[in-house]
Amino acid sequence: MDLIDTHCHLNFNAYKDDLDAVIQRTLDAGMRVINVGSQSSTSQRAVDMAKQYPGKLFAAIALHPLHLFETYVDEVEIPFKTREEVFDPAYYSNLAKQPGVVAIGECGLDYYRVPEGVEEAVFIKKQKATLLQQIQLAQDHDLPMILHVRTSKEEPQRAYLETLDVLKHVGFNNGVVHCYTGDLETAKKILDAGFMISFTGIITFPNAKELLPIVQYVPMDRVMVETDSPYLAPPPYRGKRNEPLYVQYVAQKIAEVKGLQVSEVEEQTTGNAEKFFSLK
Ligand code: NI
Repeated sequence: MDLIDTHCHLNFNAYKDDLDAVIQRTLDAGMRVINVGSQSSTSQRAVDMAKQYPGKLFAAIALHPLHLFETYVDEVEIPFKTREEVFDPAYYSNLAKQPGVVAIGECGLDYYRVPEGVEEAVFIKKQKATLLQQIQLAQDHDLPMILHVRTSKEEPQRAYLETLDVLKHVGFNNGVVHCYTGDLETAKKILDAGFMISFTGIITFPNAKELLPIVQYVPMDRVMVETDSPYLAPPPYRGKRNEPLYVQYVAQKIAEVKGLQVSEVEEQTTGNAEKFFSLK
């Protein structure tokens, strides 16, 4: 299995008790992973891990929109409370120069829930301003971006469309929209703008059948696979902690939907990730 989990968080506390074992079985399976930072501490940790396992573990660094405000996050299965952080360009620029850093991410727009005591307009304005700063960071270091987009229940495409607007405004399209859960029309806009789309184990969930026509639609040279571990474990492990090995279930689902061999999906998505993140 030569898969690349293009988005996981082995740099998060969920692995603090058995990290070495998780990494070992990932590497034993012939896999490589991209550990994605969400704030200064987890970005630094992703960089440290990339230095420890060169050519196997890579790092993406950024400030996630949820960390712009102090808020309670009901993340699927693992709730947590975020600390408020202000984006520090110098700090992240220094990290971006470190070996093994292959992307700026995850960052983007998250409209899922406006924190209590914060005005919606302020909430959105701050996110867009911070996204712009991180696009600048990606441009300065010639790195692709991993985009996090989460919509509100009331306006299920808005955060996607506004993320695209911000990126189009500055003419940047070297990015992947991770964990895609929007509709087909929005997916077409993302692809037309030149972005990649990556899918998580959500496409294997019995209650997410509406995503399957999108999986079917996305061309094979524009798709990547990811787990978003420790979140979103696929059905055999649903409710448990996810890990990079389970990215195989995502590849299997894509193969099933597109009528391909799993090996074809592995080969193509791995090739896409190598090219997108310049892994070789
Ligand atoms: Ni993530």
